Amino acid sequence: MASSPSLPPSAPSAASDTGPWPKAELHLHIEGTLEPELAFALAERNGVTLPYATEDELRRAYSFADLQSFLNLYYALMAVLRTEDDFADLADAYLARAKEQGVRHAEIFFDPQAHTARGVPVGTVVDGLARALDRAQETYGISTRLIMCFLRDESAESALATFEAARPHLHRIAAVGLDSAEVGHPPAKFKEVFALAREAGLKCVAHAGEEGPAAYVWEALDVLGVDRIDHGVRCMEDERLVARLAAEQVPLTVCPLSNVRLRVIDDLADHPLPAMLDAGLLVTVNSDDPAYFGGYADDNFTAVRDALGFDAETLRTLARNSFRASFLDEATRERYLAEVDAHATGA
Ligand code: ADE
Ligand code: ZN
Repeated sequence: MASSPSLPPSAPSAASDTGPWPKAELHLHIEGTLEPELAFALAERNGVTLPYATEDELRRAYSFADLQSFLNLYYALMAVLRTEDDFADLADAYLARAKEQGVRHAEIFFDPQAHTARGVPVGTVVDGLARALDRAQETYGISTRLIMCFLRDESAESALATFEAARPHLHRIAAVGLDSAEVGHPPAKFKEVFALAREAGLKCVAHAGEEGPAAYVWEALDVLGVDRIDHGVRCMEDERLVARLAAEQVPLTVCPLSNVRLRVIDDLADHPLPAMLDAGLLVTVNSDDPAYFGGYADDNFTAVRDALGFDAETLRTLARNSFRASFLDEATRERYLAEVDAHATGA
């Protein structure tokens, strides 16, 4: 399958001509990297009919009122993902783009229930993704981890059944996560499956405080015991929560372009990222679902640089934070941090 994606024309985040800042991407849904070109190619390969005649017509549907309106399209397009090859091609296309964006390490979400519900076994998904990820270091110079997410608008029993179905594949999975429609689906519903995951030695993350309230961030910390919060921007509505997140240096994987496209914030110039940094939070910048939201990892760096006036020192902090917040071992983390510092000095 073709994997020579065309890249957006924005200038990279680096102040000099040394290329984009080296960075880790910690909030990336692999299904959200499905570009229209690949969607149509896979549709043809698998004999799936899409409800759009052309790639342009599909692209014109990428105008979202909120998270749910995006999720409707996101799940519908997954109909083209059927075989191990499909998942391997999807991940390979992402990694090729990520390399161009300065990504050196990627911790990648996938949504098993969105595939098992269509009759695609979790083993097909994991084996396909793992095939691409296993070659990523050699082919693209990118280290990777997989994070298996539970859909919070499905039942706790479904999450438990998914975890059990994935048990034979846990050696390939670093963490579990929680995503999909947030409001009305508080983290506590998934206490049991997160406890099982932790017992199995996995890290835990959860989307919280994207559309949902700051109270969901508290719950994700106190009931699920998560190691990171995905999004978390609504923590800024709760001073005590901000103080806690700062004191404990809980990483927040913020996705600026996503927040604008899903109308979590009105305008990038009003994004709380500067206030979050000023409050001492361990924030990182990520792309979420880049095929749908107008940009990959470095596109998010350049967007916040341009809209929020971030200088090179702030971008360096964001690049360093991305590795500090990762699930890498200490030695590898230090190696990547040294790369960021070398980039900063032009060494
Ligand atoms: N699944 C894919 N993208 C998501 C997002 N931004 N929030 C919640 N669930 C998601
Ligand atoms: Zn997300």
